[in-house]
Amino acid sequence: KEIKLFCPATIANLSCGFDVLGLCLATAGDEMIVRASTEKGVRITKIVGADLPLETEKNVAGVAALALLEAFETELGFEIEIYKNIKAGSGIGSSAASSAGAVFGINELLGRPFSRKELVQFAMQGEKLASGNAHADNVAPCLLGGFTLVRSSNPLDIIKIDSPSELYATVVHPQIELKTSDARSVLKQTVSLKSAITQWGNVGGLVAGLYTQDYELIGRSLHDEIIEPVRSMLIPGFDAIKQTAYENGALGSGISGSGPSIFALSKGETNAQKIAYAMSKIYKEMNLPYEIHVSKI
Ligand code: HSE
Repeated sequence: KEIKLFCPATIANLSCGFDVLGLCLATAGDEMIVRASTEKGVRITKIVGADLPLETEKNVAGVAALALLEAFETELGFEIEIYKNIKAGSGIGSSAASSAGAVFGINELLGRPFSRKELVQFAMQGEKLASGNAHADNVAPCLLGGFTLVRSSNPLDIIKIDSPSELYATVVHPQIELKTSDARSVLKQTVSLKSAITQWGNVGGLVAGLYTQDYELIGRSLHDEIIEPVRSMLIPGFDAIKQTAYENGALGSGISGSGPSIFALSKGETNAQKIAYAMSKIYKEMNLPYEIHVSKI
């Protein structure tokens, strides 16, 4: 028995929601085949499109799969084939797609002993291997779709928020690799009360905007004065890309996850495509190779 999966890319943080907010891109991602076998354990049998370790304990999909199998007794074993489209260190949840895909696939083949929300804790073990930190803001939207809010990570409390029907994302990836661990190490460990007040006002505004499908409110809330000023220095052309996104009708724009990808949200596909064109123009002018995705959320 086997299952073929689409493992979506994700955008974590969404400006104001560092480590707590994330969204799932409906049409960008990896593919994976998970196969049940009679030989116990987990084997990564094939990886296409990336130079990643095949050893189960060194592979994020392997580690996430082992975490699930520690919580569920079975005589079955599993083989995993991974077809990567999302580049490692791109900031759109490459490790999360593999971690979430592995646990989702195994759970299906086992007859769904766990809910999608329960799978998040296992997939987080893959994130821990990838970045040294078991954050859930990519694996949660990858497994649940739409938007997710990690209200608490210990104990895990995840809220799924449906995406407003006309919301689209444009994500551009300048072709450099930025390790999440490096992008975390540059951050200050304290924030001022003034910045914290601004930030939680925006998180509340964004969540309210999503529930009420208020696109203007969503746009007003997409700001980050804590993380973005520090991390954006690591991203070539950040200010120009963000500016062109706004000039071309973006509701908001910021760093995707830990970068270097930059996202913009917009109402309707036409706007999202227009932003993609404008962003491409900037990186072409800079002679910088890039990849771009437009996706419904
Ligand atoms: N919230 C995490 C970070 C996401 O920004 O470090 C990493 O993809």
